[in-house]
Amino acid sequence: MRDASIDLEHLSADLRVVLDSINEGIHIVDTCGITVFYNRIAASLDNLDPQEVVGRHILSVFPSLSEDTSTLMSVLRTGRPAPVRQQTFRNYKGDTITTMNSTLPIYSGAKLIGAIEVSKDVTLVKELVERVVDLQAELITTAGVHSATGHRVKVGTARYTFDDIVAVSQNMQDVVARAKRASQSGSAVLIYGETGTGKELVVQSIHNSSPRAARPFIAQNCAALPETLLEGILFGTARGAFTGAENRPGLFEVADGGSLFLDEVDAMPLPLQAKLLRVLQEGSLRRIGESSERKVDVRLISAMSSNPATAVERNLIRRDLFFRLGVIIIEIPPLRKRKDDIPALTEHFIERYSSQFGVNVHGVTRDVFELFMEYPWPGNVRELQHAIEAAVQLSHGSLIGLEHLPPHVLSHGPGDAASRPRANRFLPTSQFRDNSTPAIEEEAKAPLVPTLEQIEKSLIWAALETCEGNISATARYLDIPRQTLQHKLKRYSIDASDIRRKDLDYTDK
Ligand SMILES: Nc1ncnc2c1ncn2[C@@H]1O[C@H](COP(=O)(O)OP(=O)(O)OP(=O)(O)O)[C@@H](O)[C@H]1O
Ligand SMILES: [Mg+2]
Repeated sequence: MRDASIDLEHLSADLRVVLDSINEGIHIVDTCGITVFYNRIAASLDNLDPQEVVGRHILSVFPSLSEDTSTLMSVLRTGRPAPVRQQTFRNYKGDTITTMNSTLPIYSGAKLIGAIEVSKDVTLVKELVERVVDLQAELITTAGVHSATGHRVKVGTARYTFDDIVAVSQNMQDVVARAKRASQSGSAVLIYGETGTGKELVVQSIHNSSPRAARPFIAQNCAALPETLLEGILFGTARGAFTGAENRPGLFEVADGGSLFLDEVDAMPLPLQAKLLRVLQEGSLRRIGESSERKVDVRLISAMSSNPATAVERNLIRRDLFFRLGVIIIEIPPLRKRKDDIPALTEHFIERYSSQFGVNVHGVTRDVFELFMEYPWPGNVRELQHAIEAAVQLSHGSLIGLEHLPPHVLSHGPGDAASRPRANRFLPTSQFRDNSTPAIEEEAKAPLVPTLEQIEKSLIWAALETCEGNISATARYLDIPRQTLQHKLKRYSIDASDIRRKDLDYTDK
């Protein structure tokens, strides 16, 4: 065992310099638990001198740790990475420090030769995030107090309404109609669509036209924070829950009476999803470290960029949580699948940026129009918006030409317009000054039949889950005859008894 660690002891001088200059604490031990490297930041976090640590066994330097509580020792024992852990402690100066620690095994080929712990100081992030939550809470309380002045103070940050949404295509009009209906019900809404398709716009519009419009709208991105921080931010903490923990409300409490928007909800770690599920089921929560329950009345809206059915299949979202989050599901199609919106969006953004930059741009040339209609817009509406924002400033004149477009859009090339089918549906708007009919290239689509089958399968699966595998109830739920359902179950090899047997686990481990 000991000779395997020789590799670690002889970390090259260059590597030591690099590891010593990075901004994270690094602690490396060999397979016996002897420290072979301990960098400057780790030393300052622990308030120790590297000389006191290197060459000694970890448990003799940190007597408060044991074989069981030391993550480095447990990684050496299991050979597997330890879950990322948050640690809050007071340093020698009396400052409260919060670190996120990742502990990983080190292998040379198949042989375990040691373990490494990387500690990232997230004190500042934690303080800033808590400050944001406090300010939001303060704003909401103050808004309540000042309503006595007779002015209704707008709380939260939702500024868009349905009037801000450009929707010409049937696809987008359906989205808006569905979202308007959703705004009137109190049910949880799950919105999905590629980046830049307008999810946030729709979410805010739902809140603003709902009966909760005068109450808070609070948004939180679930991908932005490590698990332990996110947990405290969402559910709040009680003093003493861990060293340095304060009594503070979470976003659920801050959003009470209003809407909470969880963006990129598929990035939420699974254990936290279990807690979220419990709050949704019980309508109450417990701050971390607190034993009493607090009632909350929050309308949850969530969003993600991938298809929720796929996210469930890939185990990114718990199936039981998915049913709670997606009582109403709204898909916003990518811009390339609703090209009828492109002329109106172009007009909308030209107007906005012409007045913002004080210029007089009327429209785009025919070449630009054709390019806009055939370009796939991977960044969707946001990409179109940015292209126009830049072009309006560059054009100085009445029309936006190809020369004003960003190179990546331009490099797509206008193609051979004459060889493409011409579609009269897409008549030039007032922004398109050329009188000829623009050309549209039909893009290759997903083959319809397998796609529909996939959708049908997930709908049946979801309905079965809702009806706990009961065939008659599921058939009624889907409004199809029982025999038709049975035929489909056979065709898709779905065994309803699997669902009946499945013991749904709502508890937080
Ligand atoms: N239909 C629309 N009408 C007008 N503006 C739109 C429309 N769709 C999107 N936008 C604008 O495009 C930009 C991107 O929209 P939004 O931020 O809502 O996208 P998103 O789907 O939340 O993207 P991401 O997944 O990257 O967060 C915003 O400035 C928004 O105002
Ligand atoms: Mg967004």
